[in-house]
Amino acid sequence: FSTGRLAGIRVVVTAGPTREAIDPVRYLSNRSSGKMGYAVAEAAREAGASVVLISGPTTLDAPAGMDMVRVESAAEMLDAVQAQLASACDLFISTAAVADYRPATPAIHKIKRQMEALSLPLQPVTDILASVAQGNPRPFCVGFAAETENLLVSAQKKRISKGVELIAANQVGGGLGFDADDNELLLVWEGGSKTLERASKIRLARQLVEQIAELYAGGGTT
Ligand code: PMT
Repeated sequence: FSTGRLAGIRVVVTAGPTREAIDPVRYLSNRSSGKMGYAVAEAAREAGASVVLISGPTTLDAPAGMDMVRVESAAEMLDAVQAQLASACDLFISTAAVADYRPATPAIHKIKRQMEALSLPLQPVTDILASVAQGNPRPFCVGFAAETENLLVSAQKKRISKGVELIAANQVGGGLGFDADDNELLLVWEGGSKTLERASKIRLARQLVEQIAELYAGGGTT
């Protein structure tokens, strides 16, 4: 891993889960711990970048040597990302497990227990990564893909549908992905792909940043 490859580059990384309120005491969320995103932010800093980490709720300590913005919901994460883009960002890495849906109308008061079934209408959440990728000017965009099947095909489709330069896909489950210390990544970009074999998230984050730096500099090949 060579340090300095991202010197002078301004990087925004999102990490962790989001929480979407159902009522004042309940929320919808997911199993993301933030470990992968924090490791990516640290690897970018090690490579010489100036890093802003935008994190959903996690139990992890703030990494040293970078700015950190803590958010709770996907809407707050979108606002925080847009604020960073407004003040210049060269590279956006979307590691967060952002909600796809949120309760349409969070209840103002705690929902009381009842004996009948309860339905919870959900509405789609803005896709932060896709909206950043559609911007003009826009940073170099890296997304993640959490998949339970057909990793390569799903990653290729996701890269094109989101309009991003690189997708880091992980097959979740079996001790990898969400809330694990280890992971395995399949990197997919236009005209190339590479498997990063099972390793700690810290090691994988360094390899990912190395690949990003290569593509960012315009020298990316298979
Ligand atoms: O946090 P850990 O416990 O370490 O786990 C790491 C991880 C498994 C969460 C991480 O490696 C990972 O895969 N992150 C992306 C999870 C995810 O939401 O994947 P997705 O396939 O649903 O989303 C695809 C991409 O769109 C992601 O870059 C995501 O950040 C982005 N997205 C999704 C929904 C949304 N509303 N806005 C987004 O920006």
